[in-house]
Amino acid sequence: MSAPRLPGMRTLVTGGAGFIGSHLVDALLQRGDTVHVIDDLSSGRRSRLPQDPTVWEIDITDAASVTAMIAEAQPQVIYHLAAQIDVRASVADPARDAAVNVGGTINLLQAARPVEAKIVFASTGGALYGMEAPIPSDEQVQPAPEAPYGTAKYCAEQYLGLFNRLYGTRHTALRLGNVYGPRQDPGGEAGVVAIFAGCAHRGQQPTIFGDGAQTRDYVYVGDVVNAFLAAGDTRPGGVWNIGTGQETSVLELVKHISQAADRNLEPVFAPARPGELQRSALEAAAAQRDLGWIPATPIEEGIARVYAWVHNGQPDRAAL
Ligand SMILES: NC(=O)c1ccc[n+]([C@@H]2O[C@H](COP(=O)([O-])OP(=O)(O)OC[C@H]3O[C@@H](n4cnc5c(N)ncnc54)[C@H](O)[C@@H]3O)[C@@H](O)[C@H]2O)c1
Repeated sequence: MSAPRLPGMRTLVTGGAGFIGSHLVDALLQRGDTVHVIDDLSSGRRSRLPQDPTVWEIDITDAASVTAMIAEAQPQVIYHLAAQIDVRASVADPARDAAVNVGGTINLLQAARPVEAKIVFASTGGALYGMEAPIPSDEQVQPAPEAPYGTAKYCAEQYLGLFNRLYGTRHTALRLGNVYGPRQDPGGEAGVVAIFAGCAHRGQQPTIFGDGAQTRDYVYVGDVVNAFLAAGDTRPGGVWNIGTGQETSVLELVKHISQAADRNLEPVFAPARPGELQRSALEAAAAQRDLGWIPATPIEEGIARVYAWVHNGQPDRAAL
């Protein structure tokens, strides 16, 4: 299914100064692409990026600037990762969340039309399937988000599908599990790995909300980057889960981090957060079949890399 790659494609990464986006930029540069980045630097940092990519400091809600930038750079593939990623902020201000996560995506879809660029969108698997979803959840499970963040991501996916029907485009959405790895700020959907690794390094006790039995599908950032590369190179559009299919509880996470740090982490427990999912895991057999993608990094290995990164002072240019 993969299209033969042309050497030196023109690519654009929105949110390229962020955690996942900056690793993706490195991978695209490494394979010889000309890379442009859009980032408003609201949570991203230029210091995560090498000198090579052209960084456009643009807010994706600014349609005119997005359109002008894309007309000038003429990207062939747009990896769209810029987002308001804070689930609790989305509850506090759903309109702002939708302005960025829905409105910003529509701006990109419109701007991509004249240059015929394919969009690969970073959606969520962890915040999309509801409380009643079978585990692991495949792409056929009806989304039932518990927060505006998931609703906005689903809405943006619907616009991608609509544009594919209206204009014959091949836009694609990847529903990511809880992504973790070096360079991650301790906010967002999977910040818990970075937070707990930091606690282990400083000899502090991590706080667990609830009893620690709640599970998530933790997927290593290097594997997620490979999923974006594969989706960008694949002709048809579609929606694919990107996860391991494995549930890991918060207590198991503490165990893995204790092993990586070679010290016993003693968590303290706080009341559960209302509305928090008890279980989550993503069935990614379709991504394996259609994109040739597999989650190659065992969680013990990924967590050891995060701990090593924390131990080394959390450098912004840390490798995978
Ligand atoms: N980290 C995860 O576990 C996870 C899980 C599912 C989906 N995702 C999605 O993957 C993408 C990347 O997430 P991340 O963890 O790297 O987050 P991140 O916050 O590190 O990256 C997001 C980037 O987008 C930029 N940005 C935010 N609002 C913007 C705007 N209005 N205009 C331009 N740039 C803007 C930020 O400055 C930042 O650099 C997001 O779309 C997120 O929703 C992440």
